[in-house]
Amino acid sequence: MTMQHVSVPADAGIDSLSMRALSFARNPLFTGDVPVLHGPNPYRRMLVPDALAEVDFTRPLGAGDWPTHRSLAAHRLLGTFYEAETVLLPEQGLTGLRGDFDAFYGEELRRLREGTLSDLERFAFGCLSDEVDVSGTCTTDVLEAYFQHVTTESEQGESPALNAIAAARRPEVAADTYLVQLALDGLTEASAMSRNLAGAYGPEQSALFKIFIDEFGYGVYETKHTTIFAKMLRSRAMATHVHAYWNFYLSGPLATNNYYYYLSRDHAKFFRYAGAVTYAEAVFAPAFVKMIKTYREIFGDDVDLHYCDEHAHIDEHHGRITRDQVLLALAERHGPGVVPELMRGIAEARLIGGWFEEDTAAQIRWADDIPHHRELGAAAEHAGEPQYVVRTAESPFGTRSHDREAVLVLERGEADLVTSATGEPERLVRGDAVLIPAGRVYGVSAVSPECRYLLHDTARP
Ligand SMILES: [Fe+2]
Ligand SMILES: [Fe+2]
Repeated sequence: MTMQHVSVPADAGIDSLSMRALSFARNPLFTGDVPVLHGPNPYRRMLVPDALAEVDFTRPLGAGDWPTHRSLAAHRLLGTFYEAETVLLPEQGLTGLRGDFDAFYGEELRRLREGTLSDLERFAFGCLSDEVDVSGTCTTDVLEAYFQHVTTESEQGESPALNAIAAARRPEVAADTYLVQLALDGLTEASAMSRNLAGAYGPEQSALFKIFIDEFGYGVYETKHTTIFAKMLRSRAMATHVHAYWNFYLSGPLATNNYYYYLSRDHAKFFRYAGAVTYAEAVFAPAFVKMIKTYREIFGDDVDLHYCDEHAHIDEHHGRITRDQVLLALAERHGPGVVPELMRGIAEARLIGGWFEEDTAAQIRWADDIPHHRELGAAAEHAGEPQYVVRTAESPFGTRSHDREAVLVLERGEADLVTSATGEPERLVRGDAVLIPAGRVYGVSAVSPECRYLLHDTARP
């Protein structure tokens, strides 16, 4: 046996988050597979280590960074860390997957996660403290008035994502893209909430538990919210396993899902969690009413919306319980000292919910109009040295985005440009160019045995 001497770079301390992130992502569980969708194996999810290696982890995400590639890469990693703290078993059983189960939950990856998680959270969510400012007098009355204000605003406001679906040239594909984003939480619903059930905190604990058991169908698997979510996917002929659509989750939805885990993991953030979950439960009901309207217009009776009907109904109830028996009850019991944190949770949940919507809307618009982006790509000016990418028919499929606008030019072979999980990919032949707006997610799979493309920067901010 030979010993390898590894020299540790001088900046190891500063940049060790990036090294730890990469050692995790380079585990064979996370290096991807040829098919565009992930198979029924909850332990494998493509973390695109090559693209992750580009991420500068020394500079935390800023408030305006949510649609960047840095954010996508970090939130994919963070989401994987959080889900590794939950129990995931494949529906078809573990036969043939025992090795992956052992690796996913095993000591090597667990130690890497434990040594990375707090730094990664600071990288991903540190910006919230700059973005949300809670100051002034914080009484229960102020809290109640603020809550009333933001929930009315949400109820009366429009959904950018649903508007983008309605305006799309292919509304079915756009509607599927929205379902994909919901699947991230929909297939593992209320997992973060479960972390706030233990302990002893009085009647508010029982109120939260009441909501939790509703999410779990009162112990009846057929009525569990994840089960009826899967029914909705099935009615669209979509896959229902965790996480078939991993490659298509956007950074806004990933950040939203991760946010609730972030608050639930650390009970110092319990009051923020209480604010955030109350906001979420209160805005779900009217949001699902709008979704039902949009989906009925597109699909008529050809989609199973039991999941949306259930939430339009039960979240009205959950909105009331969380407001009266969790949010306001905690403020009364624990006094003005906790009110700023309750308010902060509401404000952050509102902010991040906005990222979910904006990101999904932007992806729908771009995936729906590739012909226009071909024209823009052909006309765009290039700056600096391009990056060369070679892919073969055996290359694992992964998606990514770029922090800045880029132009992809196919130089050799033929390839498919994939921008949505259920739409037809765009065939690219030699000389074809496509402009990829900053933050938009795409993947390329070679159609010929090998293809080569260039990525140019357009020098636009
Ligand atoms: Fe639910
Ligand atoms: Fe609910």
